[in-house]
Amino acid sequence: MRVGIVRETRTGERRVAATPETVKQLAGLGYDVVVESGAGKEAGFSDAAYTEAGATVSKTVNLSKVDIFAHVRPLEKATVAKLAKGAVTIGLASPASELETVKALADARITSFALELVPRISRAQSMDALSSQSLVAGYRAVLEAATRFPRFMPQFMTAAGTIAPAKVLVLGAGVAGLQAIGTAKRLGARVSANDIRAASADEVTSMGGTFINLELEAEGKGGYAKELSTDSAERQRQLLTPHVHAADILITTAAIPGRRAPLLVTADMLQGMRPGSVIVDIAAETGGNVEGVVSGKDTIVPVEGGQITLIGLADAPSTTPTDASRLYSKNVANLLALMTVDGSLTPDFADEIVAGACLTHDGEVKQEPTAKAIKGEN
Ligand code: NAI
Repeated sequence: MRVGIVRETRTGERRVAATPETVKQLAGLGYDVVVESGAGKEAGFSDAAYTEAGATVSKTVNLSKVDIFAHVRPLEKATVAKLAKGAVTIGLASPASELETVKALADARITSFALELVPRISRAQSMDALSSQSLVAGYRAVLEAATRFPRFMPQFMTAAGTIAPAKVLVLGAGVAGLQAIGTAKRLGARVSANDIRAASADEVTSMGGTFINLELEAEGKGGYAKELSTDSAERQRQLLTPHVHAADILITTAAIPGRRAPLLVTADMLQGMRPGSVIVDIAAETGGNVEGVVSGKDTIVPVEGGQITLIGLADAPSTTPTDASRLYSKNVANLLALMTVDGSLTPDFADEIVAGACLTHDGEVKQEPTAKAIKGEN
């Protein structure tokens, strides 16, 4: 069976769905891999490296001739139209916001697997692209803040005087938040964090952060947070205000699956921050945790005595495309490996990972919330 890899076309996307390392893994499973020339260029993988790993590099990839099409970003409808009936796709699909494409996949009788639907269970961790890409985002958020911050992150004791360490506050301590805590600690900052999941206090502590306990908890299914009530959300903002004012760097990552990001910091709360402070909102693409944030842009906010910088982090994994691609392509290859028997893709829909990740099959939309949304039932 032939696996096709092409250059991603969405603006700003620099990742690629297979690296030379995963080409070897896929070849070992029995697949032929065909790679569009230049597909890995932005991520630092040359055509020669793909060829050496065993792929066929070609100027264009004829999508009607591939059995499996691996991709990073959700497909465009025009791409779906080029695929052969019965082909299999695997990649991020943003089902909630790409309803027309999902319908096109079902209509074209494509079997599609959406990496964001892979169940968050231990056995599926090596296929979990949400985690691998959130890790990149959390790391990157701290670096973006550090380069704009007009001070040092660590404490310095020098002959010319002592510099106090920066105070970093992380709101939302999931995969991205925990990575932000770890990265800020490695840079020498003093880090504190808050989350509303019961398990997060121990997780924050294990990364070296100080947990801020507001005695507000809201946990839904599968260990995910659920939305706070209007009163609790207001209370959370009130209780967080002194912590926000004390922070030099604020990293916000809070998310509720399938919902707009919760508003944790209002424009009024920003007014108590010291001049020079930096805020990075990782949730900017889904509405933002900070009032006034613009996805993909820096906003300068005047405060008493100066200004602060509010960064709407967008396309975070593409800012570190080499390692983001390494991890992402391993997630893709590991999911394919789970579904491969004797060199051929044979999905076992009785497996909860395969069934959970399947978005369309046999002309139907398999994921219930998306199927309902397409029928206008949500
Ligand atoms: P996410 O990206 O959906 O949300 C980020 C964080 O924001 C979460 O920790 C959430 O609790 C927090 N949050 C939501 N509303 C908040 C609020 N009002 N204030 C403060 N924080 C708020 O989460 P992510 O990173 O995808 O992880 C979510 C869960 O999935 C975790 O419980 C984690 O244990 C679990 N998980 C399981 C994995 C596995 O077993 N394969 C892999 C990765 C995560």
